[in-house]
Amino acid sequence: MSALLEVAGLRAGYGDVPVLHGVSLTVAAGEIAALVGANGAGKSTLLLAIAGQLPVRGGTVRFDGADITHAPAHRAVARGLVMVPEGGRLFPFMSVRENLLLGAWHPAARRRLAESLGEMMDLFPLLRERRDQLAARLSGGERQMVAIARAMMSRPRLLMLDEPSLGLSPLMVGRVFAMVKELAVRRGITVLLVEQNVGEALAMSRHGYVLERGRIVRSGAGAALRDDVEVQRAYMGL
Ligand SMILES: Nc1ncnc2c1ncn2[C@@H]1O[C@H](COP(=O)(O)OP(=O)(O)O)[C@@H](O)[C@H]1O
Ligand SMILES: [Mg+2]
Repeated sequence: MSALLEVAGLRAGYGDVPVLHGVSLTVAAGEIAALVGANGAGKSTLLLAIAGQLPVRGGTVRFDGADITHAPAHRAVARGLVMVPEGGRLFPFMSVRENLLLGAWHPAARRRLAESLGEMMDLFPLLRERRDQLAARLSGGERQMVAIARAMMSRPRLLMLDEPSLGLSPLMVGRVFAMVKELAVRRGITVLLVEQNVGEALAMSRHGYVLERGRIVRSGAGAALRDDVEVQRAYMGL
């Protein structure tokens, strides 16, 4: 499979403080890849830098063969790379439907707005049931599902999800993960999944990467990493 996302030697940080010290990873078209690591390892920083929301200090980001290292976020989205930030960040006093429509802001996506909305509501009936409800009135898990569907409204090829299961009940974690798998299988979407539910995230991913203090310290097949005793001891409390 060809690489859709290729990150090489990426450096980024905040002010004078470096956080990422040369991160390299590859996500193949059509796969789910997991990025795991302790709190503060730099996972969110990495997604922000890839998405063009944080200045890159060194290294390169290539998406679908094009160098997007210094491309602004809106350019990355238009190319098909979209990020769902931690917590989802919906507009609480807008309805589910209004939140979804906002995902289709770039011209190519706007032209297919009705089609995209119908597709998301067909795939995830919850969205149709709750379409007129204010986002503020949804449960945490439902909010996360709307945030993911909103990202899909831009018709991306790569979806980067920052801890979609954070703070959710085990039941809702299962539903959110099922949604991600469904999008991968039914829509052929490529996913880079940041998770603290390390075991489950690795189990559903073809490849996994472990980030520690701004460096990738392990990588490999998702299932192999999940079964790795050191990974289990460090990140799965086993
Ligand atoms: N906006 C910010 N300003 C300054 N430092 C930050 C900011 N966001 C994160 N950091 C720091 O960068 C490091 C990596 O954070 P983050 O990427 O959020 O880690 P993770 O997502 O893996 O928990 C941490 O030391 C954190 O304190
Ligand atoms: Mg984070």
